Amino acid sequence: MANTILVGAQWGDEGKGKIIDVLAERSDYVVRTAGGNNAGHTVFIGPQKYVLHLVPSGILWPGKKCVIGNGVVVDPVSLVEEIEGLQALGVKVDGNLFLSECAHVVLPYHRLLDEQRELRKGRQKIGTTKRGIGPAYGDKAARVGIRMVDLINPPRFEALLRQRLRENNAVLRALGARPLSFARVHAAYRAAGDRLRPFVTSTVMLLHEATRRGANILFEGAQGTFLDIDHGTYPYVTSSNTTAGGACTGSGVPPNKIDHVYGVMKAYTTRVGEGPLPTENAAIADLLHGMGREFGATTGRPRRCGWADTVVTRHAVMVNGIDRLAITNVDGLDTVETLKVCIGYRHGDRRYDYVPADAAVLAECEPVYAEFPGWRTPTGHIREWRKLPAPCRAYLKALAELSNTRLAMVSVGPARDQTIFL
Ligand code: GDP
Ligand code: IMO
Ligand code: MG
Repeated sequence: MANTILVGAQWGDEGKGKIIDVLAERSDYVVRTAGGNNAGHTVFIGPQKYVLHLVPSGILWPGKKCVIGNGVVVDPVSLVEEIEGLQALGVKVDGNLFLSECAHVVLPYHRLLDEQRELRKGRQKIGTTKRGIGPAYGDKAARVGIRMVDLINPPRFEALLRQRLRENNAVLRALGARPLSFARVHAAYRAAGDRLRPFVTSTVMLLHEATRRGANILFEGAQGTFLDIDHGTYPYVTSSNTTAGGACTGSGVPPNKIDHVYGVMKAYTTRVGEGPLPTENAAIADLLHGMGREFGATTGRPRRCGWADTVVTRHAVMVNGIDRLAITNVDGLDTVETLKVCIGYRHGDRRYDYVPADAAVLAECEPVYAEFPGWRTPTGHIREWRKLPAPCRAYLKALAELSNTRLAMVSVGPARDQTIFL
């Protein structure tokens, strides 16, 4: 398989983990390039469920090389826990995982600040995962971050942490929160740094060597297009570039080494956290929650649900250059009588065929729907495109066409083999 970027085409949780797991079979490297442990990627191998937060999902294939790139923010204590959890399940991590020396470190003050900012926003809160992601990227941009290369250098880490805690404790006190103890943070993060030291390397050089040898690289997107700091529904977004460009800046692999961009979307829409969701619908949320689905993989929060929105996915195709579309969770709609698909927005006298930048305008947009007959029969056992019910094929083809891209893959269940290639 050629070098491929995979991104979420909606608001995250599109089923990227499952599709990455399927595509990883034909890849040599799987690379995370943005976000942190706000991500939760679910993969089933047989009955065993894995939820990956920082470690690329390729780790579940023996021998695949997995890279956490420079664009990721890493909470070292949480990464150590994740590695140990995988090892306890018999997954080989040592020798297969590489961690960028340039990745920024998420520290406890980032988490506390995340929490405090959300509290202060009150009803305007973003609904973050409270993993400290925003403040960590904020420090990176403000050039006061601590990187992996600093964490694994004990005297330097000690000095930097002292300095950073002085400033952050003053801020925390001013906000009425409890300051952090240097000794406690230092001990926990030094220990995590020691444990992670063998994984830390120049992943830019590693990936450069890999591309020179003709290895196949799969870039594992996290979050989704509309959580992108530039292209998402700001301020209801995460703090990184979750779109395709972020795969290059977050790894050091240049754009002219990329062959394909896969977009993953659900056959309907979900969003966890606050912010506009034009096609939100209570009936579809009840249906999916009633099936025990659509609860967050990281926070366990119920996800908001709605009809498929091709204004959103068309916009995603445009900003990511998606040339292959994977549609997941098709089986979730097996019982629906009539399906609605949003094909445009109405806002007062104005029509939109793209996602307006102003989140307040988007929140007021009225979806314009097309209707499709449901198939009303189970699809989870089907393995061939032509065996899908005709209304199902028509619905999926319409989603791809309205999104301006080519349908390449359909997923009818969480398992590896519940996948149909076109
Ligand atoms: P990610 O963050 O994009 O990797 O997605 P999550 O793992 O957070 O959420 C997607 C959920 O959908 C997970 O529970 C997956 O196991 C599940 N899933 C993925 N594809 C399918 C599918 O085609 N059908 C069903 N029923 N579940 C799926
Ligand atoms: P995966 O990779 C869905 C959402 C949060 C919140 C906003 C900002 O599993 O698709 P943050 O903690 O990043 O500051 O939160 O972004 N969010 C996600 N929603 N899937 C994710 O990741 C998400 N990562 C962050 O719910 O609305
Ligand atoms: Mg997820």
